[in-house]
Amino acid sequence: MLIYTKIADLRAFLKEKKSLNHTVGFVPTMGALHNGHISLIEASKKACNVTICSVFVNPTQFNDKTDLERYPRMPEKDARFLELANCDVLFLPSVDEIYPKKDETIFDFGFLDKTLDGKHRPGHFNGVAQVVKRLFEIVGPDKAFFGEKDYQQVMIIKALVKQMGSSIEIVSCPILREADGLAMSSRNTLLTSEEREIASRIPKLMLDAKKIVKEKSISAAKLFIEEETKKVSIMKLDYFEICDAETLEEISEINSQKKAIALIALFVGKIRLIDNLLIS
Ligand code: PAF
Repeated sequence: MLIYTKIADLRAFLKEKKSLNHTVGFVPTMGALHNGHISLIEASKKACNVTICSVFVNPTQFNDKTDLERYPRMPEKDARFLELANCDVLFLPSVDEIYPKKDETIFDFGFLDKTLDGKHRPGHFNGVAQVVKRLFEIVGPDKAFFGEKDYQQVMIIKALVKQMGSSIEIVSCPILREADGLAMSSRNTLLTSEEREIASRIPKLMLDAKKIVKEKSISAAKLFIEEETKKVSIMKLDYFEICDAETLEEISEINSQKKAIALIALFVGKIRLIDNLLIS
């Protein structure tokens, strides 16, 4: 696997590949890679001739400075993991390489970034859009691969690509889960063993909530999640909403014509985790 830290070197490599009409698949990440990321690499390898993975902890998407400082960084381990997955290129730029000057771009995603994580982490999706736009301009991929755990992020990135007038295809890939059901996340490595045990209750809570929606109502499911999370002192619910899966508008009842999705964000100790589950 090739490792580039400079844009110019990556561009020279890509120029040669594109001159041979090779298709480029791109997996942007913030590192601390797990099997969820590797499933994106595998999807890219299946669909494209060349696979590039970037590892860059993007400061502009953290609205909380301690969250940025705490974010796990393990580039050597990531490189070994990617090598084993037969990834072709790891792009590992510095902050100055990506942002030679402050990025002041303000995006308008309308309602999409004013709800859920957009509401609870102000500025987060603007930062995501800044870095993804920059990375897309550097890599110029045919396809880019993202995990559905970050459901709202995938929608934002699809909207970004539209705004850029770009033909990059955004491929969303299913959530990968640990044996106990917890959605794989780089943040899981930050949990203590007690927190990890508590976190493993999240997928069960989501499945129970889904059952309650079907048997009773959306409001009963919301009450259930509020009450269950309150029972655990180190759990703090940020939000639990059931939304139209196409628009993210909150819904109050299930409509058989529309897909509904339950989305949750909560703190276990100091670590913020998210998950989602299709309801119908
Ligand atoms: O999902 C992530 O890891 C990040 O938000 C992304 C898309 C790599 C942008 O920094």
